[in-house]
Amino acid sequence: MDFALNEEHKMIRDMARNYAQKELAPVAAELDQKSEFPSRHLPKMAELGLLGMMVPTEWGGSGLDTLAYVLALEEVSAACASTSVTMSVNNSLYCGPIVKFGTDAQKEKYLTPYASGQKLGAYALSEPGTGSDAANQQTTAVLKGDKWILNGRKNFITNGPNADAMIVYAMNDKEKRHKGISAFLVEKNFPGFAVGKVEKKLGICASSTSEIVLDNCEVPAANLLGQAGQGFTIAMSTLDSGRIGIGTQALGIARAAYEAARKYSTEREAFGKKIYEFGAIEGFIADMATEVDASRLLVHRAAWLKDQGQPFGKEASMAKLFASETAMRVTNKAIQVHGGYGYIKEYPVERYYRDAKITEIYEGTSEIQRLVICRHVLKEIQ
Ligand code: CAA
Repeated sequence: MDFALNEEHKMIRDMARNYAQKELAPVAAELDQKSEFPSRHLPKMAELGLLGMMVPTEWGGSGLDTLAYVLALEEVSAACASTSVTMSVNNSLYCGPIVKFGTDAQKEKYLTPYASGQKLGAYALSEPGTGSDAANQQTTAVLKGDKWILNGRKNFITNGPNADAMIVYAMNDKEKRHKGISAFLVEKNFPGFAVGKVEKKLGICASSTSEIVLDNCEVPAANLLGQAGQGFTIAMSTLDSGRIGIGTQALGIARAAYEAARKYSTEREAFGKKIYEFGAIEGFIADMATEVDASRLLVHRAAWLKDQGQPFGKEASMAKLFASETAMRVTNKAIQVHGGYGYIKEYPVERYYRDAKITEIYEGTSEIQRLVICRHVLKEIQ
């Protein structure tokens, strides 16, 4: 077993850290306060190869492995969680399934410009009445001639208002429940496609989240991703990978909060000594350091398994579950270490706390991760 990163991985991590700390961290609070989508940062991220990291180079990506991706994503997440979810959705939820299930013609049109960062993608699975029970899709797809006609509403779509295209899941045969779901490549300018309500959120305020309205939306038959009826498998296997990304985002947020608290504890004095010298704060710092490290080990294990071509769904859910709950505990303690200063916007820890919460919700709530993990571990004894 080797816990050391190789030179290429270290180089990618250092490149991403250098970029994120220099260009994202200084503006993250401003983007958050203005709820400003990080559009102006995407060209540089594209230039650095951060938007299609695991996409083969022939399709405009960086051709790197999952470990390289999580190393870079942790750095972006530690600097600006809003930018990191924008990056993660384009990499894991949009480009990922096109690499795996797309035809060459689909890859040329819907992968190359997105992996190289000229365009941005999204993933539209959730609906107003369909969150955790993803198989219960109400959006419909009917094949008419050489077009699929899609009707329905999607909600909580990350990158929704800014995406040039997205993978939309819809029911084309209700009788078959999950086996009647298909996946479609839908462009923003297709007739019948509209961006609905743009959400105001507790955290990751600079990322964009909206409803998508499909009103007799016309999708060319050639834009079916995979086979008709394969949509649920595509959605689920995509989320397995996506959960490694959200685990990484949680890890990055937790690390940033831990580092801020550790620094503050060596600067702030009370009762004539630095606050880290008090047992209570010492305990906080030790617990934070331990849980951040444990999260990273789980995230890296899931990424490694995926890179080895081994099953990784259980480990991805474990990494997301543990890292997201760690992010909540660590950001909470980071505010506590800062006292009153932790509660005001002059210090970044209140943003970390708000940003952390979503990692327990999107790409499967903690309750869904426990369900997935439990199903896997019960299978192991059958
Ligand atoms: N990979 C491949 N196939 C899978 C799979 C996976 N990970 N998980 C399940 N399947 C297959 C099963 O093998 C089964 O296939 P067969 O019928 O051929 O045997 C089929 O799918 C149905 O599986 P289940 O019976 O397990 O399905 P279920 O209805 O009980 O649901 C669930 C399973 C885990 C609860 C799933 O619905 C789920 O993950 N829900 C959460 C959805 C979610 O995470 N939504 C997040 C929205 S996306 C988002 O947040 C994006 C964003 O913008 C950031």
